[in-house]
Amino acid sequence: MTAAPRDLPPWLPSLVRSLRLGFRAEPRLLVVSFLVTVTAAVPDALFALWLKLLADGVLGDRPTQVLAAAVALGASAALSWFLQVAGERVGRRFRERATIVIETHVASLQASVASIEHHERPEYLDRLAVLRDQIFAINHLYASLFGVAGWVLRLGVTLALLMSIHPALAVLAVFAAPSVIVASARSAAERRADERTAPHYRLARHLFVTGTTAAPGKEVRVAGIADRIAREQRREWERRYDGLAPARWATAAWQSAAWALFGVAYVGAIVFVASGLRASAGEVLLVVAAGGRLSQYLGQTVGEIGFLRGIWLDAARKLAWLEDYAAAAAAGADLPVPARLERGIRLEGVSFAYPGTDRLVLEEVDLELPAGAVVAIVGENGAGKTTLVKLLCRLYEPARGRITVDGADLARLPAEAWRERVAGAFQDFARFEFRARQTVGLGDLVRIDDAEAVAGAVDRAGAGDVVARLRAGLDTQLGPTWREGVDVSYGQWQKLALARGFMREHPLLLVLDEPTAALDAESEHALFERYAAAARAPGGAGDGRVTVLVSHRFSTVRMADLIVVLDGARVVEVGTHEALVARGGQYAQLYAIQAGAYR
Ligand SMILES: Nc1ncnc2c1ncn2[C@@H]1O[C@H](COP(=O)(O)OP(=O)(O)O)[C@@H](O)[C@H]1O
Ligand SMILES: [Mg+2]
Repeated sequence: MTAAPRDLPPWLPSLVRSLRLGFRAEPRLLVVSFLVTVTAAVPDALFALWLKLLADGVLGDRPTQVLAAAVALGASAALSWFLQVAGERVGRRFRERATIVIETHVASLQASVASIEHHERPEYLDRLAVLRDQIFAINHLYASLFGVAGWVLRLGVTLALLMSIHPALAVLAVFAAPSVIVASARSAAERRADERTAPHYRLARHLFVTGTTAAPGKEVRVAGIADRIAREQRREWERRYDGLAPARWATAAWQSAAWALFGVAYVGAIVFVASGLRASAGEVLLVVAAGGRLSQYLGQTVGEIGFLRGIWLDAARKLAWLEDYAAAAAAGADLPVPARLERGIRLEGVSFAYPGTDRLVLEEVDLELPAGAVVAIVGENGAGKTTLVKLLCRLYEPARGRITVDGADLARLPAEAWRERVAGAFQDFARFEFRARQTVGLGDLVRIDDAEAVAGAVDRAGAGDVVARLRAGLDTQLGPTWREGVDVSYGQWQKLALARGFMREHPLLLVLDEPTAALDAESEHALFERYAAAARAPGGAGDGRVTVLVSHRFSTVRMADLIVVLDGARVVEVGTHEALVARGGQYAQLYAIQAGAYR
């Protein structure tokens, strides 16, 4: 895997990429929207010229000129109104269509990222939280960019008109420059404050969700912490705004000073033209109108650029970053996933620390998981069992060492293709609130509608009793907040998760990370007995599948072909049940304690 980018890419390429994305989504609407927005600028900017011709016509007593100027004035106003309305319509249509494309793009990017590391790095999380809120911003990016083009065009026309009176009037633009500079500095400063206070925002949102959703509701009420949560939520919001307010006040002050400077120059310009140049009344009127518009156009340009730099471009850069991040995760995957395992999976000197921490959760782990074997991992809570399983599923990359699949570095297999050959059930399983059939079928998306496959998985997981008790069997909607949805117990959810894990019939790696903790010891034993028998049956393990089983129950563990004892991030013992018992080490001790308890 090539190094994943940490910093946001530069703005210009990000902008170009966002434009390309919008163009691919809706080429016609994008182009029409651009043309309409830009053309709308011309009649608007020419207003001052018609005014001048009108005034000179009136004072010089030229009726045809008066008439022509009046018609032009009316036509300009009508045309710019019409184009503005048309631009808004087209723009809105484009936004609606593009939102769908961009949202699905972001969602699929997030899902395709090879590791879940980005879900755990706080700085990435803040970035993604902002990006999710900003998806709408990417749409506004286009409107904003076209808007800028329109305002710049108005500015250009206006400056040309002013310079036709006297070239020195171009200096007006120089006096307006500070407001441009201040506006861009403003959004940068406010964005920094925004990012600095993002953790407070995230915490406040989290507290809100905790305090208001059903899942934590029971515990929140029993513990009586609702008030406390509300208080802390308020405090986090206040911290967020306390961080933002000074930045906003400071920039407002600078902004006012910059506009005051322009105001002085504007007055100076009018006096200069009227008494210095002894210009005609029409020309003075042009300077008054165009000069006034200059400030309005500059204000709009500046504001639009401010938005562009502050939010829209930032969103474009975050999106580009996410694209790069996903691409980096996918790059370097140049080896195919084998159709079946011949030798097995090896861990060679694997060490691992979770992102953002430096405590090794796995240290120098060397392990051989032979093809076709059922491997049990035992160890105390926190020993690193789940972590080991996550590395095997390629949810994380080892910090040092490597994992090989039939000799090929796992990091060089495409993560998606590898995970298609991984099946399993986890301790912290997900509760997918769909119909029971889909909740199970999700384990192998291509066969989600295959009734036989789903029934087979339910059967293998021993979840038949759960389904039998559901009102409409596999067609029952799960989750009480849905129409006709039913609530099922923790243990029942777990069995359904296990069935989901058994959906794939030909995985190369099957991981069972305490998926049956809610079952009693005997059911668990019976389940794995059946599973192991099926896996070992002729043809059953034809894929050379490696099964990794994490359990605290020695009745289950003892039937594994190989037992790995983890302790404090290290592998301390490896062997068969008999060998480990004979060795009289840690495994033998733990086994004796549990066996004693059952006696
Ligand atoms: N996402 C995470 N971020 C940081 N530390 C973690 C994370 N998940 C687990 N850990 C830590 O890693 C160690 C091993 O955890 P885990 O592999 O879940 O242990 P086990 O499954 O053996 O109980 C524990 O000390 C745990 O606190
Ligand atoms: Mg665990």
